[in-house]
Amino acid sequence: MKNKKIKKIILLKGKRKIVSLTSYTFPISKILNRYCDFILVGDSVGTVHYGMKSTREVTLDMMIAHSRSVKLGAKKNLVLVDMPYKTYQNKFDAYANANKIIKNTKCDGVKLEGGKKISKIVSYLVKKNIPVMGHIGYLPQKSKFFIAGKNKTEKKKLLNDAKSLEKAGAFSMVLECITPQVAKEITRTVKIPTIGIGSSKNCDGQILVIDDMIGLSGFYPRFVKKYSNIQKIIENSVKKYCSDVKNGKFPRAKNSYK
Ligand code: KIV
Repeated sequence: MKNKKIKKIILLKGKRKIVSLTSYTFPISKILNRYCDFILVGDSVGTVHYGMKSTREVTLDMMIAHSRSVKLGAKKNLVLVDMPYKTYQNKFDAYANANKIIKNTKCDGVKLEGGKKISKIVSYLVKKNIPVMGHIGYLPQKSKFFIAGKNKTEKKKLLNDAKSLEKAGAFSMVLECITPQVAKEITRTVKIPTIGIGSSKNCDGQILVIDDMIGLSGFYPRFVKKYSNIQKIIENSVKKYCSDVKNGKFPRAKNSYK
C-alpha cells in the first residue's frame, strides 16, 4: 500500500472511531481538513446542491469540478471521490474514468457502489494503483431507499459482498442503512474499516452528508443528528439585509472610500 494516508485509516480499525463528512466546496473542506480523518466528495452533491431527483444525474465533469475545489481546501487530508452512475460499468471504463478523476483533481482514491457484482472492477482498479472504497447496503445510484439486512438472505448477501470487496483489495467500505446486527457482523468479519451511515454505531467509523448535519439540506433522514440550523441562520441574515437596504440602513451613510 503506497498511500500513507490510506494506511493511516486502515490502522485506525480497532483503535478509535474514524470520522468523515462529505464536502463539495473549498470553504467547507478547509474546515473539515482540521477535524476529519477523510473527506468524501459524494455524488450526493447532485441532490443536495443541484436539486436533482437522484444521484444518477451527476456527471463525471461535475464530480471533477467539485473534487478540485475540495482538494484545494484539504491538501493534507485523504480525499475520496464518488464515481458517478454508469462510469464504471466495466473495468476499462472504470479505470479510464477513475484515472481522469485522480489526474484532474489530485484526490487520493474513488468510491464505487456495489458488492460482489463489481468486485472484478474493484480488483482491476486496485491493481492499477487506484485506491478504492466500497459501498454496500442501500445504494442510492441503484435503488429506492430501503434498510438492508432485514432477513437471512439479505444478511448472507451483504456478508458476501463485504468479503468480496475486501478480497478485491478495497481499503475500506461504506455500510449504508444496514441493520445494527449485520453491520456488527460485517465489521467483525472484515479486516478493513467499515464506515457507517445510518448503520448504527457497530461500524469502525461514521460519515454524514455535511448539509444534513449542519441543517442546510432541508432533508433529514432519521439517523441524522442536526448539529446546527444553518438554513435558519442564512434566512435571518438575508431577511435583515433586505430590510436594511429597504430602510436605508445599508449601506451606511459614511463609507471607507476617500
Ligand atoms: O454521496 C454520498 O454522500 C455518499 C455518502 C452518503 C456515503 O455516498
